[in-house]
Amino acid sequence: MDDILLREYQPADLEALYRIDQACYPPGIAYTRRMLRWFLAQHGCHCLVAELDGEPVGFLVAIGEGTVGHIVTLDVLERYRRRGLGTRLLLEAERRMAAAGVRTVELETATTNHAAIAFWRKHGYRTSGVLRSYYPDGQDAYGMYKSLGAGAGPRAREKSGI
Ligand SMILES: CC(C)(COP(=O)(O)OP(=O)(O)OC[C@H]1O[C@@H](n2cnc3c(N)ncnc32)[C@H](O)[C@@H]1OP(=O)(O)O)[C@@H](O)C(=O)NCCC(=O)NCCS
Repeated sequence: MDDILLREYQPADLEALYRIDQACYPPGIAYTRRMLRWFLAQHGCHCLVAELDGEPVGFLVAIGEGTVGHIVTLDVLERYRRRGLGTRLLLEAERRMAAAGVRTVELETATTNHAAIAFWRKHGYRTSGVLRSYYPDGQDAYGMYKSLGAGAGPRAREKSGI
């Protein structure tokens, strides 16, 4: 995995990221090109691409606004999983968001996505509740969150007892 490089997103990556997202999520959860483009254009967007031999093999999109950051998606192509790549992408995104002032990171993941739930828990994310019919196909999601530092805002403190 040492030969996998993390780098900034470039507009020319859009099609490759769309294809990775389609491969990583079932229909109804995967983003359309238009949705991905919209997220990538948002203020405070961090998009990191993991590249092997010039080809994207994974990526993460997060939006950090003020003290709250939101992980929009984290995708690693199946053949590159369980080698620490998701962890590398996440740690770098958390580092960047913390440097930009984010104190709490939130995300949603399907209640049936056991690999992702194990991944987020390993990285200190806790469940804030179930979001019924969160996805367009009707699937439920867990809301999850993590405090990045001692200065976490009131939203994080409210949730910390759950
Ligand atoms: C979730 C995902 C990003 C993890 O990426 P990854 O590169 O395989 O993650 P890592 O190798 O860094 O895994 C770190 C830890 O997460 C946990 N984990 C990851 N995949 C797991 C699985 N299939 N089953 C159980 N635990 C898992 C393990 O604790 C793992 O550590 P270990 O390998 O030492 O046991 C990847 O499975 C993926 O892209 N899935 C499809 C898209 C998705 O569901 N994204 C997240 C949803 S919001």
